Amino acid sequence: MTLYLDNAATSFPKPEAVYAAVDHYNRQLGAAVGRGHHRSAIEVNSQVERCREQAARLFQIKDHKQVIFTFNGTDSLNLAIRGLLKPGDHVVTSDMEHNSVLRTVHALEQSDGIEATYLPADETGLVQIDQLREAMRPNTRLVALIHASNVTGTIQPVEEACSIAHKQGALFLLDAAQTAGQIPIDVGSLPVDFLACPGHKGLLGPLGTGLLYINPEIVNDVASVRTGGTGTNSEEPSQPTTCPEKYESGNHNAPGLVGLAAGIEYVLKRTVNDIRNHELQLMQQLQEGLQDLPGLKLYGPADPTARTGVLSLNLDGFDPQDLSLILDENFEIQTRSGYHCAPGAHKAIGTFEQGGTLRLSPGPFTTEDDIEKVIIAFREITAV
Ligand SMILES: Cc1ncc(COP(=O)(O)O)c(C=O)c1O
Repeated sequence: MTLYLDNAATSFPKPEAVYAAVDHYNRQLGAAVGRGHHRSAIEVNSQVERCREQAARLFQIKDHKQVIFTFNGTDSLNLAIRGLLKPGDHVVTSDMEHNSVLRTVHALEQSDGIEATYLPADETGLVQIDQLREAMRPNTRLVALIHASNVTGTIQPVEEACSIAHKQGALFLLDAAQTAGQIPIDVGSLPVDFLACPGHKGLLGPLGTGLLYINPEIVNDVASVRTGGTGTNSEEPSQPTTCPEKYESGNHNAPGLVGLAAGIEYVLKRTVNDIRNHELQLMQQLQEGLQDLPGLKLYGPADPTARTGVLSLNLDGFDPQDLSLILDENFEIQTRSGYHCAPGAHKAIGTFEQGGTLRLSPGPFTTEDDIEKVIIAFREITAV
């Protein structure tokens, strides 16, 4: 059986209930969301609203209408960044960000008169938050930070960053692509203004789903980047101004969202803490099993509790892509190699010139036996 260890890209397998929900939608319901008054449409509507409610429950969001459905993590981040920033604004972000933030900010720097500062990271992938205070300017509108790196798994000091941002009058955007469903996030104790995440990674929904929480107090400051039909106030020429309709134009990904509802329900039932403990155990086993193998270099924090379920490595004399191919073809282990859409992270940890790293990312259904299989494969490869 092929072993899938690329959960940081998208989770696989999904819980059985996700497959069942998508199949039920596709075969039995088939209706659009918020656009009909027949029974199937009402049923789909209620399942999609349940998805919103479950997401709000997971992150302790008081009003589920503040949860906006998007099409992936990138879409959520684009909406937050492009919807908020105006010419003359300054944004602080970091070298560890994914291209969904880096390229979006870069594009705004090029064409929209936005200024940006990128906080550096150390060789373990930890963003240097002590430099955030100095980086803040009177026109800093936003601090956008990754919760955990998709290259090294490094968990960032986001509480401190959020507090500094707020004290200096800026808003805070959390990119929770690698932590939603894997590390507890509570917008009560971590009062982010935006929480962006895909639905298809740790929330265990299908591809084509994403979420953006927007703090209700800033909705008037965040423009919609897409306009069109919402199934509400259709006689009006202007886009609705309330959530979620303001930001959700056009037909929803209904099969994806009913699947996402089932994915979040699985996470809620199993609990984020249990998933986190499971991943911690696997990461510890993986690190211990690999760390002394000859020629193998592991990246990221040495302490498994300082990372999520992501481990990057390189093997002397091997290109990361070739190593990935060997693991797939000879051992049936699927991994991801290269830059992982995060070039700055590879510069920080010193792997840019080598073409990046090979990344192992187990998921909630990965077992200790699976990890043992990986360790044995690396023993064989390094013994050659
Ligand atoms: C940290 C981080 N941010 C954003 C994204 C973008 O998410 P998506 O692939 O759903 O657009 C990813 C995806 O890998 C990620 O790891």
